Amino acid sequence: MPIKEISAESVRDKSIRHGHISTLHLWWARRPLPACRAVVFASLVPDPEDPACPQAFKDAVAFLLKNEDPNTNMMYKPYSDIPYTAIVDPMDDTLRNRLMMFIGKFSDKCQKNMIAGNSTSPKEQLSEGSLIKWENKNNPVILGKARELIFVAHNAESSVDYSFESLHREFKEFSSAITDAEDELYSHVNRHQDSSEVKQLEQNLNNAIEAFQKRMPSVFDPFAGGGAIPLEAARLGCRSYGNDINPVAHIIERGSAEFPQKYGKPITYSEDEFNRLYGERGHKMLKEYELDVINGKVEIPNRLAWDVEYNARICIENTKQKRSNLYTSNGQKPLVYYWARTCHCSNPSCNAEVPMLKQFYISKRRTAKSKDWVYLNPIIHGNKIDFEIANGSCFIEGWNNRGNITCPCCGTVTSADQIKEEFNNTGIIERLLAIIEEDEKGIRQYRVASDEDLKVYELSKSKSLPSEQLEVGNQRNFNTPGWSIDTFDGLFNNRQSQFLDEFLTQINSVSSLLQFDDNYNRAIKTYLAILFDKVLCRNTSMGVWHKLQETVEHPFGRQAIPMVFDYPEMNPFSSLSGACYGQLDAILLFLESENSFPSYFANTASGEKNQFEAKSITAVITDPPYYDAIAYADLSDFFYVWLKKILSSDYELIFSTPKTPKKDECTALKHHQGNSESEAKIHFEEKLTDIFDAIEIQTRDIVSIMFAHQSTEAWTTLCSSILGARMNITGSWPMDTEVSIALKASMATLESSVTVACRPNERKGYEEFKVVEQAIKDKVVKEVEKLYELGFRGADLLTACFGQAVSEFGKYKVVEKANGDRVTVAELLDMARQTAFDTLLKGIQADEMTRFYIGWLQMNGMGEADHDDVTQFTRVGVNVEIHDVIQEGLLIQKGNKNHLANAEEHLGSSKSQGTQPDHPLIDQVHRAMLLNRKQDNVGLLKLIRDCAQTSDAQFWRLLASLKETLPAGEDLNDVQALLRTADYLRAKSKESIAPKQMNISFDE
Ligand SMILES: C[S@@+](CC[C@H](N)C(=O)[O-])C[C@H]1O[C@@H](n2cnc3c(N)ncnc32)[C@H](O)[C@@H]1O
Repeated sequence: MPIKEISAESVRDKSIRHGHISTLHLWWARRPLPACRAVVFASLVPDPEDPACPQAFKDAVAFLLKNEDPNTNMMYKPYSDIPYTAIVDPMDDTLRNRLMMFIGKFSDKCQKNMIAGNSTSPKEQLSEGSLIKWENKNNPVILGKARELIFVAHNAESSVDYSFESLHREFKEFSSAITDAEDELYSHVNRHQDSSEVKQLEQNLNNAIEAFQKRMPSVFDPFAGGGAIPLEAARLGCRSYGNDINPVAHIIERGSAEFPQKYGKPITYSEDEFNRLYGERGHKMLKEYELDVINGKVEIPNRLAWDVEYNARICIENTKQKRSNLYTSNGQKPLVYYWARTCHCSNPSCNAEVPMLKQFYISKRRTAKSKDWVYLNPIIHGNKIDFEIANGSCFIEGWNNRGNITCPCCGTVTSADQIKEEFNNTGIIERLLAIIEEDEKGIRQYRVASDEDLKVYELSKSKSLPSEQLEVGNQRNFNTPGWSIDTFDGLFNNRQSQFLDEFLTQINSVSSLLQFDDNYNRAIKTYLAILFDKVLCRNTSMGVWHKLQETVEHPFGRQAIPMVFDYPEMNPFSSLSGACYGQLDAILLFLESENSFPSYFANTASGEKNQFEAKSITAVITDPPYYDAIAYADLSDFFYVWLKKILSSDYELIFSTPKTPKKDECTALKHHQGNSESEAKIHFEEKLTDIFDAIEIQTRDIVSIMFAHQSTEAWTTLCSSILGARMNITGSWPMDTEVSIALKASMATLESSVTVACRPNERKGYEEFKVVEQAIKDKVVKEVEKLYELGFRGADLLTACFGQAVSEFGKYKVVEKANGDRVTVAELLDMARQTAFDTLLKGIQADEMTRFYIGWLQMNGMGEADHDDVTQFTRVGVNVEIHDVIQEGLLIQKGNKNHLANAEEHLGSSKSQGTQPDHPLIDQVHRAMLLNRKQDNVGLLKLIRDCAQTSDAQFWRLLASLKETLPAGEDLNDVQALLRTADYLRAKSKESIAPKQMNISFDE
C-alpha cells in the first residue's frame, strides 16, 4: 500500500468542504474517502508479483497502467528517486509498483519539493492520475481503469480460462450497455410519468447495471456509519451493501450513497408538465440557473437536486413568513444574538446577577488587526453589570473558571456546586448581551442589546419540542444534566424552539404534497429532514461561537454535548453559511457531485447470520466502533428525537422506538453495562465476535478492518474477536487521517487508523510458543524499522505492529507454552509492544531513566496517556518503577493521566541536577537545553566539557534522537540549536575556562 500517499490525501480530505460527504450530515468518526477508496481497491485486486496472481490481471495492469501511451506510461511510472524514504529505494518499474502509483503517487512538483525539504500545498501533493485524489472522484477515465482492474481480478480468479483480451472486451461491452441505457432513459421526455415505455427504459438500465455488477465483487460494510466505505465500493463499480444499527446513520447512508446515485440524474420535461409541477416558482428557479424552455422542453441536469431545492425553498420561505418577525433589528439584518447564562453572586450583600463569561471577545478574526477586534467591555455600578462594545485587545480576566464564578462586583467566588443548586431551584436565567448584524453594505456591526430586542424576546417556549431524556448516566458526553438540563427540549431557547417548531411543521406540510412515486417522494423528504438536522444543530443554546471566524458551530466539537455558559443564537434566515439557505447549499453541492452506482442499505444489527448466503460476499471492508471512544447511539438521539417527527411514516421500523437502540450497540460503554468496565469490555468483545462470526460465514475472500484506538485493551479485544471468529490477520497498514506527522508527536492519541486485512478460515493446528515468539519478534522488528523510516511514531507505530504480531500468532488454532498453558492475545500484544520498544531503543545505550524517556516519547509523544498504560509500559519496556519516574520528575501525573515532562517541567526547579557525568543522560541533555535557552554559555560549555566532550558521546546521540521525535516547540528549538552548534560547543569547551568561572556552581 502506498501509505504515505494515502495519508497525505486523507489528511487533506479533512479540510475539503464543497460537495464532501461529511457536509451532508454530521456523523462521528468518519473515515476519509481516500483511505476508504484505497482500502476497497487494494482489497479487491491481487499483488501482480504474487506467483498465484492470474496472468490476465498482470496483463491488465500492463495494458492499463504501463502501455505505450506516453501519458499513461509517465503517469504511473514509479519514482526515480523516493523522496521521503530510502527503504525501497530504488523503486523498480514493476507491475506491483505501477499498481501502487495508480492508487496514489506524489506529483512531480511534490517530489521535487520533498527532496529540497520544501512543502507543497495539499491540493498539489498527489499526481493527476491518482485514483484516490479528490478531484478524480467522478473522473471516468481513472474510475474506468479501477473498475476494469477489479473486474479482471475478480473474474480471472474464478476461472483460468479468462484471458485479459476477452475480459477487456466484455468490460467494454458492459460499460457501453450501461451508457446507452442511461442515455435512452434520461433523454426520454417526462420520464417521471409512470408509462409502460418509461418502465421498459428503467428496466433496461437496471438490467445493464445488474449484468455488470453480477460480474463484479460484492462488498459489505456492517458498520457503515456515515456511508463512506459503501460509497467508495459503489464508486469502484462493486455491488455494495451497508448496515448500521443506528437509525440516524441509516438515514445519512441512504442520503449519501443511495439516493444521489439513483435519482441524481438528468430529466427532460415538456413545458406543460414542467408548468404543472413547478409553476411560476419553477420558472424563477430556471432563470437563476440560467436554464430555459427550449423547443417546448426543459432540461434539468440533476432531477434530485432540483426537487430538493424547489421544496426546501418553500419550507424555508413559509417558515420565514411566519417567524421572521422574531428576528428584527432596527432596519439592519441581524445575524447572531449573543447570550450568556447568569448566576447570582453567593455573597448575600452583593447578590449581583453575573453573566457566566469565560472571556469577552466577540470578534477576534484571524485576518483582522488587533485594533479592530471587538469585545464586551463590562461597566459595573454597585452590583449592576452592564456592557459596552469596545475595540482592540481585551485584558480583562474572564469571570468563569470551569463553572466557578468570581463576582466582578465584590470578588466573591461562587462555586459551580452552588450555581448548580441555584439552577435546580429557580431555573436558568439567560441574558442577551450583544447583537451582530449586517448593514445594507453587508458590513458587520456589533451592538449591545436594547430594550426593544428584549421585547421581541418575550416569548414562550414551544410546547411540541421533544421532551425525551438525555442519556443522564453518560456523564462523559452529557454534563448538562448536572446543570439541570436533562431533556432534549432544554437544549433550545424560546425563540429557537418557536422557529424549529414552525420549520418542522412546514417540512411536514410540504412533504405531504409531494406528487411523485412513493420511493422518490421518500428520497426528497429525507433531504428535507437532513436539512432540518443541519439547521437544528446550529440552532441550540449549546452551540459555540467561533470568535476567530465569527461562525456558529454545532455543540459536538468534542463528540459530546458539553454545558456552555455563553452561546450564539443565529438568525436562521440570514446569509450565514450555517443558516437555512447556507445549509441547503451544502446539501445541493453534495447531491450535484455524486454520480456513481448506488449502494444498498439494510438497517439491521449486523450480527445477522442469515442476511447473506454463506460465502456470497466477496469482501467485507469495515470500520467498527473504537471500543469506548464514541457513544454513537447516545449522541445521535439529539437528531433522532426530531427525525422521527418527520420520517417515521416513511421508515416505520427504524423509528418505532422512543430513542435510538442502545442494547445491541457494539461499544464498550460502561454506563450501558451497569457502570461496570469489565462488563462493558465483555459486551464489546461478545458483540464484535458475533458480528465477525457472521462475516466469516458470509465472506469468501477478504475482510479488511480499519481501527483507530490507542489502548492495548481495545486492541486485545479487537484481535480476540477476529481470532474468535476463526479469521486471521494477514497484514496491517497504518494510515494517517488527521494531522501532519510533525504535529502528531505532541499527542498520544492515535492519529492514524490501522487497517488490518484478515482471511477467513486460514488457521493451522498447534505450535509451540517459542517458535511463534521468534517469528513474531522477527516480524515486529522489521515492521518497526520500516514504519519508523516512513515517519510513523507513537501509538500509531505500536498499533501497526500489533497486527503483524497477531498475524503470526493467529496462524495456529492453539499456541502453548512449555508448561502447557495457552498463550493469550493480551500476552502476545505485550510481547509485541516490548519488541517494538526494544527495536526503537536499539543504539541508545543509556541509564534506565533515559531509556524510559526516549522510549515513551517514541511511543506516546508528549501527549497524555492513561495511567494504566503507563504501568504496563514500565512493566514491559524498561527496568524502572513508575513511582520512581514520577518522583524523578520525568513523568507528570494528573489524576488518571500522565504526560512526559518537558525540560522546564523536569529540571526548571533544580539548578544542579544534570550537571555531572554520573547523572542520568536525559538530565544532562535537559540541563543543556535549559542553559541554551537562558543563553548561559559558561554553564553550557562546562556541561559539554564534563559530559559530552567527544562527538560520539551518548549525549549527542540522544540529542539526535530527540530531534527526530520531539514535537514542534521550545524543547525542539533548543535541541536543534545545540546540534547546529555542536562542533563549536565541543571545540570551545576544550579551551581553558577562567578558574573563577569554571567554579561557578549551578546552585549559585
Ligand atoms: C467507526 S463508525 C463507522 C464510521 C464510518 N466508516 C464512516 O466513515 O462514517 C462505527 C459505526 O458502527 C455502528 N454500530 C455500532 N454497533 C453496531 C452494531 N451492533 N451493528 C451495526 N452497526 C453498529 C455505529 O452506529 C457507528 O456508526
